[in-house]
Amino acid sequence: MTRIDFDVHPGGSLRGGVPVPTDKSIAHRALIFAALAEGISRLQGVAPLGAIAVTRRVLEGLGVRFVEEALGEICVEGVGLRGLSAPLAPLDCGGSGTTLRLLAGLLAAQPFQSTLVADAYLSQRPMARIVAPLRRRGASVEGRFHPTHAGEILPPLILGPLPAGTALLESEESLPIPSAQVKSALLLSGLYAEGNTYVHEPVVSRDHTERMLCALEVPLRAVASVVELDIRRWDRRLPPFSLRIPGDLSSAAFLLIAALLVPGSEIILRGVGLNPTRRGILEYLRDVGAPVAVEERGDRMGEPVGDLQVMYGGPLRGGLLAGEMLVRAIDEVPVLCALGARSEGVTEIADAGELRVKESDRLAAMAQVLRAFGVACEERPDGLRIEGKPEGLLTAADVDSGGDHRIAMAAVLLALVADGPSRVRDVGCVGTSFPRFAGTLRALGAKIHAVERE
Ligand code: S3P
Repeated sequence: MTRIDFDVHPGGSLRGGVPVPTDKSIAHRALIFAALAEGISRLQGVAPLGAIAVTRRVLEGLGVRFVEEALGEICVEGVGLRGLSAPLAPLDCGGSGTTLRLLAGLLAAQPFQSTLVADAYLSQRPMARIVAPLRRRGASVEGRFHPTHAGEILPPLILGPLPAGTALLESEESLPIPSAQVKSALLLSGLYAEGNTYVHEPVVSRDHTERMLCALEVPLRAVASVVELDIRRWDRRLPPFSLRIPGDLSSAAFLLIAALLVPGSEIILRGVGLNPTRRGILEYLRDVGAPVAVEERGDRMGEPVGDLQVMYGGPLRGGLLAGEMLVRAIDEVPVLCALGARSEGVTEIADAGELRVKESDRLAAMAQVLRAFGVACEERPDGLRIEGKPEGLLTAADVDSGGDHRIAMAAVLLALVADGPSRVRDVGCVGTSFPRFAGTLRALGAKIHAVERE
């Protein structure tokens, strides 16, 4: 089978302004709410590839029509809350955990049965966290038993049907681990319930679902870390809407950090989403003294957007990413590890046990990649301790992505400051979130090539 690798040659600075991919989290939600709206919504910046294309295909399998208007612009013909149709075949979520978990919430409330299937990676990721609370509110959800962890459930999931004349019950859940996917699954099922939905999180996870529902005038209140969907005050109609999806701060993070690693770099990124529940990386960079200028430029359906400018200013100090800040930077751990590799002193990641069940075990994977580039690193149950190597260059390496897009991109950044050419293997996964990653780095001045290998 053909595999794609990146060959990375260090040298040269990264300079200029480049577009960043649109925000995956916001795009998933925009597609789902547009599908459930009563009328035609217009979305700009919906990626035709990767995880977003997966959500679109699943919604098509439920009878929703999408019409391509122009490049990157689509019309969604909303079918209304009760208008989804029974799928004719299992719905394939590929490797997209957000698709699977959000859609599970929606499909648990339907009068028909559906099956959500996943690729080999996602089929190993835990689903009891959504299955149990959905069952508690009366939904029928079946999955595959985990071969070794009693009580854990894996995809595929079989959801519904909800018998005619019945509705899901009120739900009051206190999540042990903050999770936007679980919270959103509960809120989506809650749109169909006869009682309210309350979700309490130890720390507020990304709140895109809440912001979009509020923008669509669904009676939802978020007070501290509790969200309440007051279904009795709602007429169960979602209006159609227009949205230009903001740029993805999690993708922008790879470019920002690349500029902070490579001497002489200066880049500007415009129209990036600046939602406070996603800004952990900016808080961390401020704490370690990185010169990132942030200019806010209004909001789109309650989502703040703005421009980011960063300039290389020499090695930064190491830092601690833990607690609430870690939740707000949950997807940025691999890229911040790459920064830690070149920072002065120690960089510590803590409270991050959840990273072991992302697209890969990101703590183990990053420890392996860092060591391959000659960076000393201690792996802990819930984190990493990285000894920065700001002097000289890193050791060129040949590493594997393990099928995880964020590990692949973090490895590329390390390769940009190595003492010779490096290879990052199996990078097809990068298309999940940043299909033009190599091209974007090349446009900034990096020497990176995608090579097909047998
Ligand atoms: C996401 C939530 C996060 C994040 C993932 C996208 C979302 O997962 O890691 O990349 O869009 O809701 P958890 O909710 O499992 O923390």
